[in-house]
Amino acid sequence: MTYGILPHGGVLVNRLAAGGEKASRAKSHRLITVDRWTLSDIDCLGIGAFSPLAGFLGEADYHAVVETMRLKDGTVWPLPVTLAVDEKKHGDLKIGEEVLLAGEDGTLYASLRVESIYKPDKMREALHVFRTSDREHPGVKKLFEKPDLYVGGPVTVYKRPIPERFSDTYYSPAQTREIFKQRGWKTIVGFQTRNPVHRAHEYIQKTALEIVDGLFLNPLMGETKADDVPAEVRMESYQVLLAHYYPPERVFLGAFPAAMRYAGPREAVFHALVRKNYGCTHFIVGRDHAGVGDYYGTYDSQHIFSEFAPGELGIQLLFFEHSFYCTVCHGMATSKTCPHPPDMHVTLSGTKVREMLREGVTPPPEFSRPEVARVLIKGMSAKNGAQV
Ligand code: ADX
Repeated sequence: MTYGILPHGGVLVNRLAAGGEKASRAKSHRLITVDRWTLSDIDCLGIGAFSPLAGFLGEADYHAVVETMRLKDGTVWPLPVTLAVDEKKHGDLKIGEEVLLAGEDGTLYASLRVESIYKPDKMREALHVFRTSDREHPGVKKLFEKPDLYVGGPVTVYKRPIPERFSDTYYSPAQTREIFKQRGWKTIVGFQTRNPVHRAHEYIQKTALEIVDGLFLNPLMGETKADDVPAEVRMESYQVLLAHYYPPERVFLGAFPAAMRYAGPREAVFHALVRKNYGCTHFIVGRDHAGVGDYYGTYDSQHIFSEFAPGELGIQLLFFEHSFYCTVCHGMATSKTCPHPPDMHVTLSGTKVREMLREGVTPPPEFSRPEVARVLIKGMSAKNGAQV
């Protein structure tokens, strides 16, 4: 009997090969090399973070997901999780074939049984999933850069493709569920982030924490656009922040291996369902969740949840307004709780903050905890500013 909330679809998928099982007969199998982005999907599939998916989407599920945000059996699933392969190299793939999936460095991570081979309609995919076909949108750009042949089928993961540094923060949903159980948490709020945690994030996390037993801080560690703060710098900043400002018995930090799609509203639904798989009962959606540029309205990622019947997603959403520090209130607030005009508020854009950090300038403490700012400045100068 599972403790806590049911995973999406009812059963927690596990596609990690049983101990010792290896991709044998390697020589007789076709090897497909996949990029880092796809590897992170393979990891999520392997550990069941993408339950009920056991592999990359086949053609019928792909079309159903793109058009209806559901798998063909009606289960809500908002983002296509697909494997794109080079047609010139792999155009002769056969249904039923077992293929091996390796990283760009040649390391073998998984196998896949081919159940479906199809051509996507990328323009349709872009318009439905990202609500735009603009190639400047990082998700759309990535979609059109991928090869044009999709292959669907279940995966078996032999080795988790996770970085050595911080590998101790990569838990499977089965593990986080067990940890939450051991801690006696019955209600857990999940928090997605691809950014350093600033005061606004901290405010909404702690506001949520007032009404639940535990906070699962689950930063996305897969590929992000080049100007986002690198994952390893962020991870260090989370550890420092937690050490100074959070009660350890009420917070748990674990990596979310996936890549960022920047699909705004659809990705918010996806993020919520995945956190349900990790065992969260609640999920935070703030301003412009998973958004980029001006492609989505500030609260579109909250509005999308009204398209589903009550109870259909099985996780409780906690919506937050844009939050900021108010110099008159002397505290964090939102427009729901603060009557003062915007020029009394301390708000900084992500671009502005990155610029300050790159130049070694510490953002005001009303925006960012000094301990966090120090880690970010150090991390960025170590990278010579190349990534930020
Ligand atoms: S995201 O792409 O992962 O959504 P980010 O890490 O900035 O980006 O956001 C993490 C979560 O915090 C999201 O739910 C987002 O909506 C929310 N959020 C970020 N900044 C604010 C803010 N100033 N006010 C309210 N919510 C915010």
